[in-house]
Amino acid sequence: MSRTPIIAANWKMNIGPKEAREFLANFKAEQLCDCKCVEKVIVPPFVTIPAVMDVLGDCTCLGVGAQDVSDRDNGAFTGEISTAMLCELGCKYVVLGHSERRQYHGETNAYINKKIKKALAAGLVPIYCIGETLEQREAGKLEEVLGSQVVEGLEGLTPEQVAGVVIAYEPVWAIGTGKTASAADAQSAHAYIRGVVASTFGAAAADAVRIQYGGSVKPANAEELMAQPDIDGALVGGAALKADSFAAIIRAAK
Ligand code: 13P
Repeated sequence: MSRTPIIAANWKMNIGPKEAREFLANFKAEQLCDCKCVEKVIVPPFVTIPAVMDVLGDCTCLGVGAQDVSDRDNGAFTGEISTAMLCELGCKYVVLGHSERRQYHGETNAYINKKIKKALAAGLVPIYCIGETLEQREAGKLEEVLGSQVVEGLEGLTPEQVAGVVIAYEPVWAIGTGKTASAADAQSAHAYIRGVVASTFGAAAADAVRIQYGGSVKPANAEELMAQPDIDGALVGGAALKADSFAAIIRAAK
């Protein structure tokens, strides 16, 4: 089956509302709106989302996502944001389980699983991040770590739900370090992940699920990564903070 590549810009804790308006003006000038063969997403900080929606208006060229969501519906959970709030703003995606949330906020596979279920129940597409640390890779635990992240993070989902999830493979040692996994290493991790999805949820889910690569993706390495058979797009941090380099990565995926 052919999977539509998905390129997403994870802005992390960068780009407030004012700067987002400038980014979008520059991005529009890149004239990528007609490029329907790549799904394009930006994932701003929560407070920037309304400005992004305001500028985009009816334009469906870019989908918008959030960087996290609560596993609760509403109530006394100070600092949390609900799926209903994201839907009210017009978000279509939510990044979950990013390694920075796992590392700095103690998020576990089981906790992220609850958020994935909440997101799906609200009709949001979860972008579920997984990936090993350098220590785990060097200890020969790559497959063990990725396997448990897939199985525990997606536990209880139907094959149809899994088909609609986007998995982002982001080796922790490649994030923000300038060290990208080689295309061959990334492809082998992606093939392994797809194999775990196949043995857990069946061949149809494995064939449909899109697996993005993330970790120091930039215009110079995007094309080689995207050419791999099991790499279905990219989750981009630093290189997606500027409209021209984000656009160049989208062109590489075309
Ligand atoms: P960088 O592209 O800055 O390495 O970040 C990757 C990432 O964490 C995207 O979620």
